[in-house]
Amino acid sequence: MLLANCMQEIRTIRSFVKRTGRMTGAQKRALKELWPQYGVEFSHAHLDLDQLFGRRAQRVLEIGFGNGESLIEQAAANPQFDFIGIEVHEPGAGHCLMLAKQSNITNLRIIIHDAFEVLQLQIHDNVLSRINLYFPDPWPKKRHHKRRILQPEFLALVARKLTPGGSLHIATDWENYALHIDEILASDGHFCIAERSEHAGENALDRPMTKFEKRGLGKGHRIWDWRLEKNSH
Ligand SMILES: C[S@@+](CC[C@H](N)C(=O)[O-])C[C@H]1O[C@@H](n2cnc3c(N)ncnc32)[C@H](O)[C@@H]1O
Repeated sequence: MLLANCMQEIRTIRSFVKRTGRMTGAQKRALKELWPQYGVEFSHAHLDLDQLFGRRAQRVLEIGFGNGESLIEQAAANPQFDFIGIEVHEPGAGHCLMLAKQSNITNLRIIIHDAFEVLQLQIHDNVLSRINLYFPDPWPKKRHHKRRILQPEFLALVARKLTPGGSLHIATDWENYALHIDEILASDGHFCIAERSEHAGENALDRPMTKFEKRGLGKGHRIWDWRLEKNSH
């Protein structure tokens, strides 16, 4: 715990700016009424995932699910897996809960907090089968590149949380972020690249199209996908 506190203090650069954002009445209601069913409060205590979901299953964690459309699509299509979504933007979380209720989803829990801290402090090591990072904020200005969530220490952290044989799935529509990811992967020892795809929206690696992907494609961007497998050593 001491080490975790210390790491928390060192990491002052955040990958997001907390936007207050306008919340619709329906989103507010969903957060209030559906939180007891789907919400998990951030805390410094490790979660017992079997207890949380009331069963043993493989677990998929998504970082920055936005408005939750693609997260709900995956949870609905894969009832045999449990999904944990993490997002800092409350209106997006409210939207996600509305969709969860509409689709009668039972294999989903969400946490509204910085995913880095959730992974560090709330998730045990070696418990996740898969982590999804779809279209992370690109922070296009050079002076902001240090805010990009994908950094060497992020890869080390997610590798610890994955089970042996677990995978990290990443997608971006930002060419300079794709170069940054390739560079970091080239000197990383935690993962090997099982698949890499550069495409125009037609060749995503085992994931639905997301809201930000659609937006990027509309602007004429290309898409980069990686499926990384955790190294066994
Ligand atoms: C560009 S959006 C992509 C949303 C969604 N994945 C999609 O593809 O449509 C990035 C999202 O990541 C969230 N985010 C950024 N840093 C985060 C962090 N450290 N923890 C949790 N969410 C984060 C932002 O609030 C934002 O909603």
